[in-house]
Formats: sequence, C-alpha cells, structure tokens
Amino acid sequence: MIDVRNPGDGFRSLRARIAALGTLGPGDRGADGAPLTVGEWALLIDDIVDHPEANTEGLWNVAGPDEDDREYDAIFVGGGASGRFGSAFLKARGGRQLTIDAWPFLGGSCPHQACVPHHLFSEAAREMDLARHMQGRLWYPPFDEKRASIQEIVELFKAGRMYPHAIMNWQSKEQLDMEFILNTPATIIDSRTVEVEGRRFSARNLVLCTGARTRYPDIPGIGIKGVYDFATLIEDLDYEPNRCVIIGGSKVALEYGSFFQATGCQTTILTRSPLMETASLHHVDTGLREYVVAMMADRGIEIIEGAEPLEVLGNGKVTGVRYREPGGAVREIDTDFVFVGTGERPNLGMYAPLGLATDERGFVIADTRMRTSVPGVYAAGDLVGPPMEMFKARKCGVGAARNVMGEDYEFDFTEYPDFLHTTYEVTWCGLSEAEAQAKYRNVIKIQMPPDDADPETFALPAAEGSMLYAFTRPVLSGWLKLVIDADSRKVLGAHHVGYGAKDAFQYIDYLIRRPEGFTMDEMAELNELFLNPEHFIQLCRLRAGQQNPVNL
Ligand SMILES: Cc1cc2nc3c(=O)[nH]c(=O)nc-3n(C[C@H](O)[C@H](O)[C@H](O)COP(=O)(O)OP(=O)(O)OC[C@H]3O[C@@H](n4cnc5c(N)ncnc54)[C@H](O)[C@@H]3O)c2cc1C
Ligand SMILES: NC(=O)c1ccc[n+]([C@@H]2O[C@H](COP(=O)([O-])OP(=O)(O)OC[C@H]3O[C@@H](n4cnc5c(N)ncnc54)[C@H](OP(=O)(O)O)[C@@H]3O)[C@@H](O)[C@H]2O)c1
Repeated sequence: MIDVRNPGDGFRSLRARIAALGTLGPGDRGADGAPLTVGEWALLIDDIVDHPEANTEGLWNVAGPDEDDREYDAIFVGGGASGRFGSAFLKARGGRQLTIDAWPFLGGSCPHQACVPHHLFSEAAREMDLARHMQGRLWYPPFDEKRASIQEIVELFKAGRMYPHAIMNWQSKEQLDMEFILNTPATIIDSRTVEVEGRRFSARNLVLCTGARTRYPDIPGIGIKGVYDFATLIEDLDYEPNRCVIIGGSKVALEYGSFFQATGCQTTILTRSPLMETASLHHVDTGLREYVVAMMADRGIEIIEGAEPLEVLGNGKVTGVRYREPGGAVREIDTDFVFVGTGERPNLGMYAPLGLATDERGFVIADTRMRTSVPGVYAAGDLVGPPMEMFKARKCGVGAARNVMGEDYEFDFTEYPDFLHTTYEVTWCGLSEAEAQAKYRNVIKIQMPPDDADPETFALPAAEGSMLYAFTRPVLSGWLKLVIDADSRKVLGAHHVGYGAKDAFQYIDYLIRRPEGFTMDEMAELNELFLNPEHFIQLCRLRAGQQNPVNL
C-alpha cells in the first residue's frame, strides 16, 4: 500500500517518485508535507495507467483511529459516477464512507473511456463536418482527409485524460474529505465486509457501484484483432482504420459512426432494429429520427437496417463482416475495422457471496431506494440497468447515501431528458408527437421546417453553430419540434437537432413534468437571448395570441 494521506517517509518517497516522472508545469510541485497537487496526481495517474504492471500497490487515503474511529456507514464498491457522488453526499451528510476503486482515480469509466472521449470525438466530428462543408470558401482550406485521423484524436484524448482524473482525486480528498483506496480491487466477503490488499473493512452497509461493460454479440470472429468497442478503441487502437463496420443501432453506434465517417473513414452501420428505434431509447419523435438518419446518410454513412451480423471475417486481422439482409440474402462487407455498440452488461462474478437477485438481462435488481434483495446492500448506476446515463448513476449513488443516512428517499428515473450526438447535438424530452396524439385529442406542433416546407430553402433553426449552414445550405441547419396540448395549452414534448440547445432541455424537462406543467403562454413570456438555439420562446409567442392555437 501507498499512503497518500499522511506526510511521512512513504509520502516523501512518493513525492520524489512523482518528481522523477517529469513535470507538467511550474504548478505541479507540492510543498514538503503538503497534500499532492492536481499536477502531481496527474503525473502519478498517468504513470500508473501507462505502466500498470509496475504500479500494483493501492493508493490509500484512509483516516486512522485518531482522526475518525466511527464505524463506516457505507463502503462504496466502485468509485465511478455513482460511487463518487454517493460517497461525497454521504460524507457531506456527516456520515463516514470508504470508496474503493480498481482504477487509480475516481470518476470511473465516464472520464476514462466513455462520455468524455465521446464528447471530444463528437466535437471533433462537428468541426470536421463544417470544415469539409465549407472547404474552399471563406478562410476554409481544402479539407485534407489525411490529416483527419481517428488514431490521432484518440491519442490526443489519452495524452490529456489524466487531467480530469487528477482533479477528481484531488477534489474528493481535499475538498470533499472522502476516504478512498484506489488502484486495487475490492473483494466482497459478506454483506458488511470487503477485503482490500489483505485488510478487511466492515460497514453498516455496502453500496455496489461497479458499472457495466460492452456485451459483445456472440458471433464467430468477434475476438479477432481489429474488433473494438468504446473502451478498447481508447486502450488498444494501433493503426489508422480505412473502412469501418459498426454493429448496433443506438447511441454508441450513431455517435462513433458519425465520428468515424467525419474523419473520412467510410462507415457502414449494421443495425438490427431501425436506427434509434431500439427499446433502450424512449420518446424518439419520428420526425426527429428521420432528420437524424437523413443527415447521416447525407454525410455518406451507409445504414443497413434489419441486418443480422453473422461473422467477423479475418485471418488474424479483420478483413470483413458477413451479415444477413432483411430479405434473407447473405452479404459481406470488406473492412479493416469493426466497432461494436451492442449495449452493456455488468460482471456479477464478484458478488457471488451475496446471492443478489438479478433480472433476466443480468442487471442487479434494486428498488427506488436503491435497496437490493440483500438487507443492507444497495446498488447504483449501470449495475442496475438502463438508462445508463450520468444523471441516473450519480443520483442513484446519492439516493443510496440518503437512505443509508436515514432519509426515506425514492428516485424514479423512468422519465428524463435525453440526448445523443451525430455531427449534431440531438436532444429531446417529454412525449413524441405520436405519443401525444395517442393520449390527447387536440395536439398541435410548432415545427421548423414545417412538414410542407422545402427543407433545402428553409433556413431554421439557425443559431449557435448552425449559422454557416443556414447561409450556405439551409437543410443542414437543424430541425425542431414543440408538441403542445392545444386544450390545456401545456407543452408535452420538445425535440431538437442542432447545436447549443442541450442545457435548455434540462430545464424544459423539469418545467413540463411539474404537476402544474408549463404552458405555451408561459414559454412565450420568457425573455429569449436571441439568437437562441431552439427558438421555442419566440415561436410560442407567435402563436400565444390565438385562443385556439394551431400548428406553426
Ligand atoms: C461510449 C459511452 C459514452 C457515454 N456518454 C455518456 C454521456 O455523454 N452522457 C451520459 O449521461 N452518459 C454517458 N454514458 C453513460 C455513462 O458513462 C455511465 O452511465 C456511467 O459512467 C455509469 O456510472 P457507474 O458509476 O455506474 O459506473 P462506472 O463509472 O463505470 O464506475 C464503475 C467503477 O467500478 C470500478 N470497479 C469495478 N470492479 C471493481 C472492483 N472489484 N473493485 C473496485 N472497483 C471496481 C471500476 O474501476 C469503475 O471505476 C456513456 C457510456 C458510454 C459507453
Ligand atoms: N448519453 C449519451 O450520449 C450516451 C452515449 C453513449 C452511450 N450511452 C449509454 O451507454 C449504454 C450503451 O449504449 P449502446 O448504444 O451500446 O447500447 P444500447 O442503447 O443498449 O443499444 C444496443 C444496440 O445494439 C443492438 N444489439 C444488441 N445486441 C445485438 C446483437 N447481438 N446483434 C446485433 N445488434 C445487437 C440493439 O439492437 P435491438 O434494438 O434490435 O435490440 C441496439 O441497437 C446505453 O445505455 C446508452 O444510453 C449514453
């Protein structure tokens, strides 16, 4: 074990070891006896991630009995989104927690392999898309396909990911006052006890937060070199792909497919259900889906719906994918790169001593208080199944903490605002138009472009990030829809494809789900910051004078 908490000989030699790793800048050196700085954490984490075999000791930040001799209220097994937020909340409530993570940092898969690289790739895709569209105009040079490299952007991410990791370790220790042990796995002994590096810790409760990983389709050849998922793309990619086949039809497939295509790597998506029509996505509006799919096709992505992947072909290295078309014909696509986005499942092997109840898909069953079937054992985050999103992981962790600390707190995550990226930001909340029609008798919509407009000449939405499109090829500038119950005048759903609107959807979701709802008249009374990305406020104002509002 390495003690990162107490200044002493061990701590001094750790600091000297970090100093020998190099420097990130003048601010990365901590004073003698002072806690590790963010820069020191970054150097240390980077070294451990790059050389795990030489860095097998755990990083211990555990209070001694002289500092805190209380029993732990909870041990959080896993310090990702759910474990870190739950721990921080429990500590803030005056409880005592211990968080254990196998990685040398807190924060989990999001900043290491999932959301954060996905956002970097999606931003890069958006930039490349615009640069390719505008090439030869204004100050945009001809687009150099050779400079747009998947491998280079992955390397850029890897070279910088220790910064967010370091901030989370530093913040958790110095500001949130959490106790943690990192860089070593926890072993479950029983419902109150875990073992770390040979030492046993007991607590009043356990909170299980170990997440989920890709579940690969069970087809021949899936283990051949050249098949990647979101995690191995980051860790193992060692060549520049020239041609890509994606298996899957949900967020990962759309986001990574759009990125690969934007770099110039011709991409085919093989999807079983129609794109975005998978059970894991709800409230997807048909008009939004059609615009998203049309714009992906417009950028050159080949989308094969109803496809059944049969085999990954190769001879030590991927050369192609064999699949069955909806009509039954078997076809092959030549490729040197296969990317898998077929969803995630938890690894429950470590929980065998607990005998937890699980559902038919293999997720841990937890109730709205995050309680599992075993008294005193809670579960949070991806481990308990979809939606596998940060809001849900973090709030599950906090929900468990609140209940551990005696509050009767329930978290219902069945309704939430949602988003994904293509080379656009795609956001939605509330009901789709079809869902609203099925539930209310007088549904109207505000939609841009309207159904009867020619989208090639209709330059709305135009705002942050879409202005250059609006003035050069209007159809590329985005799409929006607000669904309204004309009788009550309440907004039922909001849907947007464009840029810059994601923040608004966090608030629209809250407003429309209040018991009193949110009317189009209240929307029209807001003070817009023109040009505002989703245009909903001024468009509602154009209709708010009508006693019996109609479509716009
Ligand atoms: C490609 C991709 C992009 C995504 N993008 C977004 C996004 O943009 N927005 C969004 O809201 N969501 C996004 N998500 C979902 C989001 O990343 C997850 O929902 C979230 O990270 C889950 O948090 P968690 O705490 O359940 O698990 P994790 O954050 O994965 O944490 C699990 C932790 O458990 C640790 N662990 C495992 N076993 C042990 C053990 N035996 N002992 C100790 N520790 C252990 C691991 O090291 C890890 O740190 C994305 C997911 C993917 C795959
Ligand atoms: N917020 C974000 O931006 C974001 C980004 C990325 C990921 N995530 C989260 O991360 C999780 C994983 O995302 P995901 O897109 O990989 O998974 P997902 O939403 O679970 O979708 C899985 C996709 O793979 C298909 N599939 C599953 N098994 C298959 C098989 N054996 N053969 C062929 N196709 C198969 C499914 O098709 P069917 O519909 O036919 O079953 C579906 O299209 C999700 O919960 C997601 O919400 C979030």
